[in-house]
Amino acid sequence: MITLLKKAGTCSVITAADIIRQGGLVAFPTETVYGLGADATNAAAVRKIFAAKGRPADNPLIVHISNVDELRLITPEVTTAAEKLIAAYWPGPLTIVLRKTPIIPDEVTCGLDTVGIRLPADKTARRLIAASGVPIAAPSANKSGRPSPTRAEHVLRDLDGKIDMILDGGATVFGLESTVVDALEDVPRLLRPGSVTAEMLRETCGNLVSDIEAYGVPPSPGMKYRHYAPRARLTLVIGEPESAAQAINKILRAKTPGVTAGVLASAQTAGLYDKTRHVVLAAGDRNRPETAGANLFALLREFDERNVREIFAESLEETGAGLAVMNRLKKAAAEIIRL
Ligand code: TXA
Ligand code: MG
Repeated sequence: MITLLKKAGTCSVITAADIIRQGGLVAFPTETVYGLGADATNAAAVRKIFAAKGRPADNPLIVHISNVDELRLITPEVTTAAEKLIAAYWPGPLTIVLRKTPIIPDEVTCGLDTVGIRLPADKTARRLIAASGVPIAAPSANKSGRPSPTRAEHVLRDLDGKIDMILDGGATVFGLESTVVDALEDVPRLLRPGSVTAEMLRETCGNLVSDIEAYGVPPSPGMKYRHYAPRARLTLVIGEPESAAQAINKILRAKTPGVTAGVLASAQTAGLYDKTRHVVLAAGDRNRPETAGANLFALLREFDERNVREIFAESLEETGAGLAVMNRLKKAAAEIIRL
């Protein structure tokens, strides 16, 4: 298969919508990360998403709509909690889990009777969904297990030859996947932290179940379950920035010269490392975790491009967007050191 790469525009969106209607796969930009889309009502098309990504068969997809009115096709019941969330955050980087209607095949939800639904803010995404005339099922457009793509080039690198088309809309705004919230009950449950923060959700809904790590995510050190991972081995060092820099420098000094190591630092701490010996990248401003979120996945890929074998990452405080950044770093980590 030859993968078409086209700048997002009126003509290319029409071509992409035709491909979706015919059961093909199109990668498209959203304000979070690039998605790999197929007609959510076409089981055969949805199966192609799993094949192209090498995605495990038990990880359900998010269904994207272009207008709130399309919700009633997909869910039989918009709960009170969902209504509040929709009014506050749609269109935007929030996925809401609700019961599904039979129009959504089991292939999308992996047999669950619920479905994650999102109305993205990105104009290209919405034009594509509207022009297709069907809801679009889309996971992030990376090879399964790799960092989510925040640029069209990332999608091309992972999926060239495996999908029909990529709509290039440049770099995405948020850089982290959407917040996922289960809104089936009165008190919503945070399933994946994102740019719509736990604090914002709690404020909107009055209450929130948010202790994600207590839901049964594998314990931190040496965890087997890896995700969002670069090819390099990532060690996350959790502690105050200066102590983390000291600990990382101590490990780096003991390394055999010749093995390329990388440091994921911040604007404030990048100067504490030896740039002549290591690949030191600053994710963003420590005091504005959303800036780290915007760059995180692109930087993890950059370490790979620069042949880094081992990455040492500093931690952020787990508040606001920092919770989402730390969630992704913990999942990418082969090892976590707590100072
Ligand atoms: O920002 C995003 O969310 C991007 C863009 C393309 O929309 N999509 C994305 O999809 O990140 P994906 O497949 O990489 O992540 C979907 C997440 C997974 O953690 C999945 O388990 C969860 O949503 N999810 C989907 N449907 C669900 C359901 N019915 N119940 C619980 N979790 C669900
Ligand atoms: Mg993903």
